[in-house]
Amino acid sequence: MPSEPLYPHYLPTRPDGFAQPTNVPLFEADEAGRRADPAKPSFTKGATLTNITPIIGTEIRGLQISKLANEGLDELALLAAERGVLVFRDQDFADIGFDRQREIVKHYGPLHQHPTMGFPAGTGPEFHVVYADEEAPSLRQLLGPRTTYDLWHVDQTFTPNVPGTTFFWVLETPESGGGDTAFTSLTAAYEALSPAFRRMLSGLSLFHTSASAGEVARVGAERALKEAISTTHPLITKHPVTGKPALFVNPTIARKVEGFLPEESENLLGFLHNHIRSLDFSCRVKWERGTVVVWDQRVTAHTAIPDFPKGERRHVVRMIPYGSKPEPAFPEEYQAAQSKSE
Ligand SMILES: [Fe+2]
Repeated sequence: MPSEPLYPHYLPTRPDGFAQPTNVPLFEADEAGRRADPAKPSFTKGATLTNITPIIGTEIRGLQISKLANEGLDELALLAAERGVLVFRDQDFADIGFDRQREIVKHYGPLHQHPTMGFPAGTGPEFHVVYADEEAPSLRQLLGPRTTYDLWHVDQTFTPNVPGTTFFWVLETPESGGGDTAFTSLTAAYEALSPAFRRMLSGLSLFHTSASAGEVARVGAERALKEAISTTHPLITKHPVTGKPALFVNPTIARKVEGFLPEESENLLGFLHNHIRSLDFSCRVKWERGTVVVWDQRVTAHTAIPDFPKGERRHVVRMIPYGSKPEPAFPEEYQAAQSKSE
């Protein structure tokens, strides 16, 4: 007999079927991290912070996200921007209800409405439920036979404003373990490149489209292309709060360098996509009951690791607020290259 889910009211539904991806017109984002006290007092009193690696990721114990005042939520955004990913343990977040969850994540910006992922009945597509069990296929089954299943990406970057401080909280983990999520620092990946190579990249931009590998798998290539929303972002971006440059690649959504011929684009992106996967910049997050992971999509790419046995239940929920439009880290070099290619 199949076991019952621990959180049946969070099972994914899609009563009206798949929607078209929503274009979000450019808006001036109010970055929470800009308002934060750089000393981050909410995180220094009573909480224990441990680096996962010196480069990326901080594990946090002894602090409830749900109890943070607005000042604490602002500090959380700044810390996520600086550390790439935050792993909060022993949280009550999964049990505070849809309204509080929505209210907390909305602190960081308007919420992305996912066109195809399921959401809990009575809520809307701002809740993105990632779910596998005896009947619902895991990512491994969705992708079909492959040699490896990591699919590094940044979520939903096909609009002028892109996702910022993103929340992902677990409801149930696979019985055999596994189903970790890995994160990689796009800031560290940028810093590892030589000054000469960085200069060459600083004038480039990438074409980002909603017709990603994931959407093609869900709705088919024809529909994904017909309904595609696309935009262009600089390849080397500047974080809106810390000002740090990042290598803003997105292997599933941004597969073309503007102005390059196909072979040039494939070769450069092939190198960069391989580069960001290095263990030098990445960390692996193990989920346990009560874990909430928060990451800043402007400086961090991620991948699922669908290594748990077929049929085991994994239940996770994500909410994505939009932050600023990515700006080039070196505007003069970027503008000069853009005007040359016109
Ligand atoms: Fe993702």
